[in-house]
Amino acid sequence: MDFGTAFSKAAATYAEGRGGVSRTRKLLPLHIGGVAGSKSTLIVPSAMFIDGGRIHLGPHALEHFHRAGDDRREMLQSFKMVLGAYDFEEALDWRLSRAIDPDGNFKRGDLIVIYLAYLLELIEQASPTEMGSVFGPDSTTRLRYSRPGWIPSRQSAAYAAMERLFQTAAHVRKQLGDELLTPEGVPSARAVDALAGAVHNAEPFTNLDGAIYEAGAVAACHFIDPKCPDCLIVADIGAGTTDFAGFIRHGDKIDVVDKTTRTILIAGDFFDRALMNLLLRKGGSFKSLRQQDALWRSMLANVRDMKEEMIATGKTRFRIDASKVLRCRLSEFIACDDYIAGSDFIAESFEKSATEMARAMKGRKQKRIGIVFSGGGVHLPSTLATIKKLKSHIRGVRIKLLPAVPKWANDLNSEKEFATLFSQMCVAFGTAISVPNQVQSRTSISELA
Ligand SMILES: Nc1ncnc2c1ncn2[C@@H]1O[C@H](COP(=O)(O)OP(=O)(O)OP(=O)(O)O)[C@@H](O)[C@H]1O
Ligand SMILES: [Mg+2]
Repeated sequence: MDFGTAFSKAAATYAEGRGGVSRTRKLLPLHIGGVAGSKSTLIVPSAMFIDGGRIHLGPHALEHFHRAGDDRREMLQSFKMVLGAYDFEEALDWRLSRAIDPDGNFKRGDLIVIYLAYLLELIEQASPTEMGSVFGPDSTTRLRYSRPGWIPSRQSAAYAAMERLFQTAAHVRKQLGDELLTPEGVPSARAVDALAGAVHNAEPFTNLDGAIYEAGAVAACHFIDPKCPDCLIVADIGAGTTDFAGFIRHGDKIDVVDKTTRTILIAGDFFDRALMNLLLRKGGSFKSLRQQDALWRSMLANVRDMKEEMIATGKTRFRIDASKVLRCRLSEFIACDDYIAGSDFIAESFEKSATEMARAMKGRKQKRIGIVFSGGGVHLPSTLATIKKLKSHIRGVRIKLLPAVPKWANDLNSEKEFATLFSQMCVAFGTAISVPNQVQSRTSISELA
């Protein structure tokens, strides 16, 4: 499972056939987007919208938010970010604003649990029948999740908190099942009861197999190819964070290289806000703060699509009302101060990681470093410029930019959508195929900027 800030993804691996030497291992994406009714069959927007006493999840959250057309309301997005915070357990206890939870039924942690229960149900329904049931007493399926880069001193507490969230989510899923997937949404009262029931249920969720660091999962995914260089730098540009980390493969083990890991909060969401600010500046005057606030909220629900459209076609537009449309060209966007500052910071952080990686190569015969870009942020026009800059700065090593889609993955599925989304899917693939404790950090990891 890869519960991403913007999109959730899932992949599975299982041994085909029964016993004997002919068993082959299959690796496959789980089409949770297909089950959820998303635009894409592979990814599900990590979104929730509470309205009319019901909780709408995934793509239905977006539909209902747009349908409600109430500019005082807010859809819950990017809520995974809290799990990367320093002391996130406390933040799980916070109540949400009435714009998000109008009846004041839930704490932040409750909504994360309900979303995770939804994700578990999507996985159950998207899993091929050959795998057998994912849940239930006879299930032999193990569930592993990808996790953000936690500060080392916080890791065991963070793991324990995540386990509790999944534990509760598994019980909520058991009680709500199919109801989590209905386009009409889950009645809030049902969710409140299921949460209360889950808290009192002491039965452990034994299928849970622990977590893998997201950038480590990307490395594990690319190391499947025996021809992949043994030294790899991963740059995972997601929605909430960009993670840089260097890895060295030793047989079956993958070491995180000391001082190469960096997690920065400049990623897709940052560029979304940059686009919104630019559009607001271009839009000129808005009468009141309330008007600006309403406009901001309504843009927030559309901005990912607008940014993606602009990068694909060179321009985008946002309709405020019948008479006013805000327009923006890609050329204006990449020239704006926020965009330049964000891309420069990504480039600088990348360069620091790569410099540390090059240092760690001293004494090694092989001086080849592979670089992999992953995450939806690979589409940002600045990433290629970043690598060009980097190549001219890092001396004494050969740097090879690996293809975004490794050859084995091309063989897996030739659909165009699969190739386009692979950079976002690879955390889920790596999480599925890595073995517990495969990715190890010998020393401290993760510097939160
Ligand atoms: N074609 C595209 N063009 C531009 N941006 C894109 C494109 N596709 C996805 N993105 C952006 O990539 C981000 C989502 O990427 P991804 O799914 O890797 O993030 P995530 O895993 O949800 O986030 P995180 O890893 O930070 O938790 C969003 O900001 C989205 O707008
Ligand atoms: Mg991600």
